[in-house]
Amino acid sequence: MTDDLPLSESLLRQRLAPHPVRYFAQIGSTNDEARAWLEAGAPAGAVVIADEQTQGRGRHHRAWRTPPGAAVALSVVLRPQVEALPQIIMMGALAVIETVEAVGVQHTALKWPNDVLVNGRKVSGVLAETVWSGDMLRGVILGIGVNVSVDFAGSELEPTAISLMTELGAPVDRLTMLESLLARLDYWQLHLGTSTLYRAWKARLVTLGSRVTVTNNTELLTGIAEDVDESGVLLLRQDSGELMRVVAGDLQMGSTQ
Ligand code: BTN
Repeated sequence: MTDDLPLSESLLRQRLAPHPVRYFAQIGSTNDEARAWLEAGAPAGAVVIADEQTQGRGRHHRAWRTPPGAAVALSVVLRPQVEALPQIIMMGALAVIETVEAVGVQHTALKWPNDVLVNGRKVSGVLAETVWSGDMLRGVILGIGVNVSVDFAGSELEPTAISLMTELGAPVDRLTMLESLLARLDYWQLHLGTSTLYRAWKARLVTLGSRVTVTNNTELLTGIAEDVDESGVLLLRQDSGELMRVVAGDLQMGSTQ
């Protein structure tokens, strides 16, 4: 548990204004609730926040843990132009890393495409889901989860995941984090579709120049992460010398071979 103030809808509305806010003490997934709200006409910037998620989900259909009182879990409704889609996760990852640094955490980095690391362990994940009407983009749900005081001790995630409180050895105020996250998202939205956002994201990637393994569906790709392009595609130099464009995948530093 954190020792911050209990979250409540009235407090959140007050502190996160002008963002329209819906708060749930417990929910399946904030992304599902935000999607339903988007479909019912939620404006851009509307945000769903939960204290606990029972069906939180991450990338690649993985479960995402959000125990009560121990995490920041939010989903923001965005209504971007379709051209800006590749940059939505860059924006989310940047907002998180800047917020984590603002609460005093050091040794932060991004792992392609959007994991936020502290001392090489994952402290946060970003999940962007698009909503379409036929071929018309209705909007995007940008889901963000941050481990504030999630206890990973003894779990299979212990070697790879970390919480802010463990790292800092001090309490972290979730309301302050939510304020900062939304402020940084508001800022980066002004740069959506520009090379400023791309360059800021790329500068944080710990991945570049390293030997990596990427799992892409059932394929295992190994090589040097040479570069990323403006739409977030990873350029992987394989041992054969061939440069491969990797649009999505699960990346691990180092080689499994
Ligand atoms: C990842 O796998 O790295 C992405 C994790 C995203 C988790 C957040 S928590 C808030 C929102 N609701 C969800 O069900 N998932 C996202």
